[in-house]
Order: sequence, then C-alpha cells, then structure tokens
Amino acid sequence: MHIKDKVVIVTGGANGIGEAMARRFAADGAKAVVIADRDLARAQSVAADIGGLAVACDVSVEADIQNLIAKAKAAYGPIDLFCSNAGIADGDPDPNNAASSSNASWERSWGVNVMAHIYAARALLPDWIARGEGYFLNTVSAAGLLSQIGSATYSVTKHAAIGWAENLALNHKDHGIKVSVLCPQGVDTNLLRAGPEGPQNLDGVLTAEAVAESVMQGLEAETFLILPHPMVLNYMRNKTGDYDRWIGGMAKLRRAIMASRAPKP
Ligand SMILES: NC(=O)c1ccc[n+]([C@@H]2O[C@H](COP(=O)([O-])OP(=O)(O)OC[C@H]3O[C@@H](n4cnc5c(N)ncnc54)[C@H](O)[C@@H]3O)[C@@H](O)[C@H]2O)c1
Repeated sequence: MHIKDKVVIVTGGANGIGEAMARRFAADGAKAVVIADRDLARAQSVAADIGGLAVACDVSVEADIQNLIAKAKAAYGPIDLFCSNAGIADGDPDPNNAASSSNASWERSWGVNVMAHIYAARALLPDWIARGEGYFLNTVSAAGLLSQIGSATYSVTKHAAIGWAENLALNHKDHGIKVSVLCPQGVDTNLLRAGPEGPQNLDGVLTAEAVAESVMQGLEAETFLILPHPMVLNYMRNKTGDYDRWIGGMAKLRRAIMASRAPKP
C-alpha cells in the first residue's frame, strides 16, 4: 500500500509509536489521518500539528470504535488503513509468580490488546469485503511471537493478537484485505519507560520514528510481519526449531535479569 491519498485511523495515536506513525503518514501525503485516543487533549494537539482529526476513544469499548469509524467516514469517506495500535502493559505484581496478576488486569489487557482489534474488524469488514480492499495494521509486539519476561498478561494477550491477525489475514486474503502485524522489541516511549529494564531492551531501543520508517517499508511491501528489530525473526526460528532449548534460554535470561535487579550489598 502507498500511503498517499489514503484515509487512515491510528488508535493510541496521541503518543509514542502511534503518534510517530500518524505524523509520518501525514508527511507522506495521506489524505486524512484520524488520531483516536483516550488522551483527547494530547490527540488534539497531534491532530492540530498534522491537520488531522482527533476522536476520543477507549478502544476496549466497542461502541467507541464504532463511533470512531463513523466519525472518520463522515469526515473523509471510506477508510483505507486502520492501525490498531493502542496497547497497555501491566507487569506481573509478583515477579516470582506468573499467576499474580489480578483478574481486572487480565480483563483490561484483553480489552485493549485483543478485543479492540476485533471490534475494528467487525465494524470495517462488511464495507471492505464489498469494496474488495482495506488494510489492517495491528501493533502487537515481539512479545506476541516470543514472550515477555515479567508480564504474563502482556505475553498472553499479544500472542492472542497474533492469532487474531493470522486468522483475519487467511480468512480475508481472497477478499483483497491486507493484514500486517508490527512487532518491535524495545521502543523509547512512555510504555517502555514506565516498566522495568527488561530483555526487550537488549538488542537496542529504537525511536518511535525509526519504527514508523519500518512501518512505511512494511506497508509498501505488504508483508504480514513488520519487524523493526530484524533479529526477532531468528529468535522465532530458534523457538520453533527447538522449543525446549528456547524455554531453557529464556529461563536463563530471566535469572540474569532477576539477579541484576537484586539489591546490591
Ligand atoms: N514501547 C515499546 O517498547 C513497545 C514494544 C512493542 C510493542 N509495543 C506496542 O506498541 C503500541 C503502542 O505503544 P507505545 O509504546 O507507543 O506506548 P505509549 O504509552 O507511548 O502510547 C500508547 C497510547 O495508547 C493510548 N491508549 C492506551 N489505552 C487506550 C485505550 N484503552 N483506548 C485508547 N487509547 C489508549 C495511550 O493514551 C497512548 O496515547 C502498544 O500496542 C504496545 O504494546 C510497544
């Protein structure tokens, strides 16, 4: 897909990766960029900079996604690209207990990291099937392909987001609908800064602008996987090539991280 003259929605577009994508889409000639976020003030400020539209939206609420798409269509016509980018990362409250997250945390993560993607597709698919085109770009994470040491909710919901995107892609390929998943490791955003130092930082923390550049390349190439950190592909191969060895390696990495966090005497 070439972004020029396209109508694009970016959820979580008020900050971080979403903001960088929105700015890049506008700079590269999109017809319109709609910034959807629960942080309306910040969404309005980004939209003002790029001549876009800000819409208040909690992506975990289906009616908000429906309202977002209706507003964007009324303002600019049919949507070409929907970027389900908003995401949250709750750490395990007890790093020595993978089951320590509350049900509320599981439900919050499920709503934002998974159901939001499904709500967008449910709202857009009928139009897109009729038009024979449309593009879903879902921001997931390398954690959805590998795992996230220190966050069971993030690992599981990001895996589910990959499962959803695969299913969406294979069911709608023959309708002309494209799907990509954006799966970075560490990116310098509020989300990363709020969490503890983790394995996602070991291969280098990218800027959100560098990730937006990978997105542009991935959209042009229309590949399912967009990997701003290319080594993730090797880690996936290691995982599928020998699962037990991979789990052993991850457990070793976890031990090293836990040791580095232990209070120094
Ligand atoms: N930063 C990283 O290291 C990293 C790595 C891999 C994947 N990701 C993914 O990238 C995506 C963007 O994260 P980011 O790093 O830019 O974080 P960020 O915190 O800078 O931005 C996230 C944005 O999403 C918005 N948001 C959160 N919950 C929302 C909701 N319920 N409804 C609407 N908006 C909501 C926030 O207000 C914020 O503007 C997420 O899906 C995240 O999981 C981030």
